[in-house]
Amino acid sequence: MVSRRRVLVTGGASLVLLGGGFGAYVGTRSIAKAQEPWIQATTGFGDPRLDALAYAILAPNPHNRQPWQVRLMGNDSFTVYCDLDKRLPHTDPPNRQITIGFGTFLELFRQAAAEKGYRAEIMPFPEGEPEPVLDSRPIASVKMIKDPSVPRDPLFGTILNRRSTKEAFTPRSVDDATFAKLQDMAFAGQSEPLISLEATSDAERVARLRKLNWQAWSVEYDVARTQKESVDLMRIGAGEVNANPDGIDMSGPMMEALRLGGIVSRKELATKGSTAYESGISMYREILDNTSSFGWLISPDNRRITQLQSGAVWVRINQAATALGLAMHPVSQILQEFPEMAHLYDQYHKYLGIAAPARVQGFFRFGYAASPEPSPRWPVESFILNV
Ligand SMILES: Cc1cc2nc3c(=O)[nH]c(=O)nc-3n(C[C@H](O)[C@H](O)[C@H](O)COP(=O)(O)O)c2cc1C
Repeated sequence: MVSRRRVLVTGGASLVLLGGGFGAYVGTRSIAKAQEPWIQATTGFGDPRLDALAYAILAPNPHNRQPWQVRLMGNDSFTVYCDLDKRLPHTDPPNRQITIGFGTFLELFRQAAAEKGYRAEIMPFPEGEPEPVLDSRPIASVKMIKDPSVPRDPLFGTILNRRSTKEAFTPRSVDDATFAKLQDMAFAGQSEPLISLEATSDAERVARLRKLNWQAWSVEYDVARTQKESVDLMRIGAGEVNANPDGIDMSGPMMEALRLGGIVSRKELATKGSTAYESGISMYREILDNTSSFGWLISPDNRRITQLQSGAVWVRINQAATALGLAMHPVSQILQEFPEMAHLYDQYHKYLGIAAPARVQGFFRFGYAASPEPSPRWPVESFILNV
């Protein structure tokens, strides 16, 4: 007999769940195991490289692929490589976004090393900048040098609370004074930064940028191979997230219920017109409609080294936003370099008045929202090639 009914609604779909036991089951499924690296970072590993790497792996990175591979060298050095299987060939053909992710990783490493009194000597692309795609050559070689005079970075304290907030924001826009503080914190100590941040809360510009972003998101979602690249990386329900703590986290009681009800599956998500497919559209529409401020990172060129530097700035902006109580959400679709996106990429750059070789490296929604849970991570040891 039915003792309790719960109704879940997502987009156009509604699912009636029968029975209290079922509700209790989905409510208790947790991704705590996938979040353990956020706690482990605060514990010691007996090797200063691992201590700092445990923070670096918490870096924002495209589709949470975590493509890092580390080979420890001697007692104080290591080399960083890209796991080439973790690239995103359809949405990121030149591996530009993946390289930005290495920039965020190295910057958090630098901050964590400094916090423990080490200077991180980072040599980017010691065997040359790989073009047109990343290859087996190293991304960086790194040496840690004990140096009590190395300045601590005030942003270090935000690493554990930093998030990419993929949610609808409140209607409150970000004012100019707050954007100015964000700039000061992110670019502290740089008199003439190579990478710059521009931002707007002007209603007309925000409306235009929202429209462009919506068009770009729709292209990525409509083109079968780019949509499939994301769908293949979706981890649906806590079981999948804990087993593979990377990719796109689709956990939580509602998702658990929809998965068990057969409404959400990779097959359904990839099927145009299905409830799951259409819900994806309405969920993104809601997120985008609830955006009152945007920001974008501009670089003077698009060399690999510049992409790494853009990553360092990216995470510092994300950290400064955290310190200021701001939510930040990257919306990268319009920057993606696959042919179907090219006309929107051009329109967007023209609209912002940015001409090649300069380009936008990161596009973000800014605003106010509750902070989400930490996203899944593999443990730091899993990235070390030689332990
Ligand atoms: C270069 C780059 C591009 C990204 N693009 C997007 C994006 O288009 N949409 C999105 O929701 N998140 C995007 N992200 C955020 C990642 O999905 C996020 O960092 C990852 O899932 C880990 O979550 P966390 O940042 O909350 O730790 C991007 C991150 C990076 C570094």
